[in-house]
Amino acid sequence: EFHEHPREVAFTHDGAFGHFDRQQLQRGYQVYKEVCSACHSLRLVAFRNLSDLGYTEAEVKAEAASWQVPGIDPNTGEATTRPGTATDYFPKPFANDVAAAAANGNAIPPDLSLMAKARHDGPAYIYSLLVGYTDPATHKNEAGQTLAQTFPDSMPGAGLYFNPYFPNLNLAMAPPLTSDGQVTYADGTEASIDQMAKDVSAFLAWSAEPTLEKRKQTGWPVIGFLLFATILAFLAKKQIWAAVT
Ligand code: HEM
Repeated sequence: EFHEHPREVAFTHDGAFGHFDRQQLQRGYQVYKEVCSACHSLRLVAFRNLSDLGYTEAEVKAEAASWQVPGIDPNTGEATTRPGTATDYFPKPFANDVAAAAANGNAIPPDLSLMAKARHDGPAYIYSLLVGYTDPATHKNEAGQTLAQTFPDSMPGAGLYFNPYFPNLNLAMAPPLTSDGQVTYADGTEASIDQMAKDVSAFLAWSAEPTLEKRKQTGWPVIGFLLFATILAFLAKKQIWAAVT
């Protein structure tokens, strides 16, 4: 067994009191923008949604304008691009799946909007995938064997990269985070590979469930009400059956 379960990694949105760390979401957005968006779309997210991350209206507009989205030239009627506005959705990096596959060794980079929900243990999986690339020649299973020793046919071929967190072990995505400081964080946080991987995983947890905090907070009054209703039912039962002893 060469496949590994996602690593243990803590996020502030874990647990019953979970909440997003806005600074972290902004850093994760920066990683998505500067690294992942070269290949991956985020088609279910609109620029206006970035206000959720703590950006002001003016900042959201400026962010939107820093992206080019598909548009129509008003004079010629031809397809062109224009700076995004707050109501636009994130643009796709490739014109279509054929172009996407052609640029990525025949594998289409999947949309990342819901990736944190699509994969088991989503955010931890994404984090593990990003930091988990290893050399198949040195990666050993519990029995101490390498892939080449046991499944020589499973060794990555051209354009494939070994990653024990990917169910298939070999994926067509080259390691996207390769050096510390690949991104220069606006908030001054040191951009180690580990930090960037965590931040973008948190950002994708948000994109997949922007209402996570509301869901978790709603649980408490619900439990309180159910507790109250249970006590009421118990007291009512006692009273109703008081005469039958
Ligand atoms: C697949 C995340 C950057 C190309 C994936 C998957 C995730 C992911 C979660 C899906 C794995 C699965 O199916 O379980 C990210 C993140 C990035 C990033 C968070 C930025 C930090 C890139 C870049 C490229 C790329 C820059 C292109 C140069 C691909 C391709 C696949 C893929 C081709 C499909 C792999 C396959 O199915 O074999 N990525 N990615 N990714 N990504 Fe990325």
